[in-house]
Order: sequence, then C-alpha cells, then structure tokens
Amino acid sequence: MEKPFRRRDLLGIRSLSAAEINGILDTAESFSEINAREIKKVPTLRGKTVINLFFENSTRTRTSFELAAKRLSADAVNISISSSSVSKGETLLDTALNLDAMQPDCIVVRHSSAGVPHQLAKVSKAAVVNAGDGANEHPTQALLDAMTIREHKKKIKGLNVAIVGDIIHSRVARSNIHLLTKLGAKVKVAGPGTLVPSDFQHLVEKDLEVCNHVEDAIRGADVVMILRIQRERQDSAYFPTLREYSIHYGLTNDRLNLAKKDAIVLHPGPMNRGIEIASDVADSSRSLILDQVKYGVTVRMAVLYLATGGATADRSDTNN
Ligand code: CP
Repeated sequence: MEKPFRRRDLLGIRSLSAAEINGILDTAESFSEINAREIKKVPTLRGKTVINLFFENSTRTRTSFELAAKRLSADAVNISISSSSVSKGETLLDTALNLDAMQPDCIVVRHSSAGVPHQLAKVSKAAVVNAGDGANEHPTQALLDAMTIREHKKKIKGLNVAIVGDIIHSRVARSNIHLLTKLGAKVKVAGPGTLVPSDFQHLVEKDLEVCNHVEDAIRGADVVMILRIQRERQDSAYFPTLREYSIHYGLTNDRLNLAKKDAIVLHPGPMNRGIEIASDVADSSRSLILDQVKYGVTVRMAVLYLATGGATADRSDTNN
C-alpha cells in the first residue's frame, strides 16, 4: 500500500505519489471548515514558527502562507529580500544557516533559481516548503488548483485539462502536469511554439499531449487553465507583440465555447487582463480564479501542518 504524505519537506510534486497528493488534499479538506468560521483560528500549531523567505515578489502565496500559519496559531515571520542582509552581499547558504539557527519549524522559500529550496533542505533542520523555484515547480499552487477542481468537479481522474500559454517559463505548468497526470487526468498544453518546450511530451510517462493550436487543447476540455505571460523571465522576443499574443492565444469566450459546456477556467494569478485572458471570461461564472485563492489558504494550512510534524516526518528524499 502507498504511504500517505509523511515527508518533512515539500519541494515538488514530481516525486510524490498519488496517495501522498490525495493525503494532502484530504487534510486540506478537513481544514476547510475553519476558514468558514467567524473566528478563523485553532491552536493546532501553537508554539511553532514559520519563516516566509521570499526572494521574488508575491501577493497570493506569501499572504496565504502567513494567513495559514496564523489561523493554525503558529508564529509567522515574513522576510523580503529588499529588507534582508542578502542586499548586503550575504550568500543564500549563510542566510539559510542564520535563519535556521533561530530554530524555526518551517522555512517557506520562493526564489528565481530552480533548486534553491532543495539546497536549503540539505542544510536546514527546519522543514522546507517550496513556494516557487524559478521555472521548476510551484507545488502548493498545483495542490490548490487540484483542490479547486476536486471541489467543483468532484473528481480529477478522467478529466481533460487544457493548459495554455507561457509553458516554458511556468513552474505552475510543471507542477500541475505532474499532479494531474498522477491523479489520472489527461493534459493538453498549447501556446506559441517558442513558449512550449519541444521535449515537453517526455516530462511525464503518459497522458500529456502538446498541441500546435490553442483551439485543439481547449476543444472538449473540462478545465481550462490559463498561464500568465512571464515577461520577467523572457530575455528575448518570444512573440511579436502582446496584441498579437492576445489575438492568437488569449482565452476569449469564443475559444472557451470549444470546451465542454460546464468547463471551468483557472488562472494562478497575477492576471494580465486582455492579454492571456479576456476580462469578460475572467469575471464570468465559469471562472474559479478567486476560489483558487481561497483554497490556497486551506492547502497551505495542510502543508504547514504536515511539514511541521502533523504526520511523522521523513527527511529521506530531498531530491523531489
Ligand atoms: N500564483 C502565485 O504564485 O501568485 P503570487 O506570485 O502572487 O504568489
């Protein structure tokens, strides 16, 4: 029998089993009710300390990790790089060792370089949670996307999911492809040829199709996930103009009508309205973008609970 999630670190989705993913989602579901209460606080993590170490900007992830920690009564400390000693030349390793010396229970890290959370996990006594590393993974985003899908479709197995946009730079796409295919969904990706890696088909063993046209990915989809154009990671022109991107690849109502009638629309945020998604689609009843944000708090409560010892921690795999 596959074991439920008992790891100390959450570094990515790639090495998790379906049972571990479902274990996190089930734990999140059990926390869901707390966020609907008038007093949104339980003593579960009283005495625990969570450090949010963000080397990149964030609205949703950082705020929801902080809220998640506080709703479970943990002490949460936010460090942004502009106000830390990294700006004075301290190395990443020294920063990590100094923070770890203060004996936190969990360090949540976001960095523009792939693999930074994995490096931290090797030197830190605290549990390490990846809040997004370069274009590699964003595991809690994929988990909250899965929770949103599960809540609205009551299943993931057998669903057709289209992931559209800037695939090459997207840690959200990678984590979602791993998660959705492990749970039995069929995933189609599409975007400008320059933004879809030619070898992407080999990312997972099965159930991933790279489409040449956005319409082919969206046709018949149960879930349409639109990705942000990541201009901060684009060092050359991947498409002629934003206007042309919007015309050829943006999610409009006409394109969405190719999906199933009850298809839902997801976007991890922040959105570029009028570029990758039309405003009327983003604000429509088919859009669950704010539900994703809501479930972000719940999923991160579950992850902090599990990583800080809610289940017996196992540090044996820091390569995921
Ligand atoms: N989806 C997401 O990671 O958003 P933030 O960059 O605002 O955290």
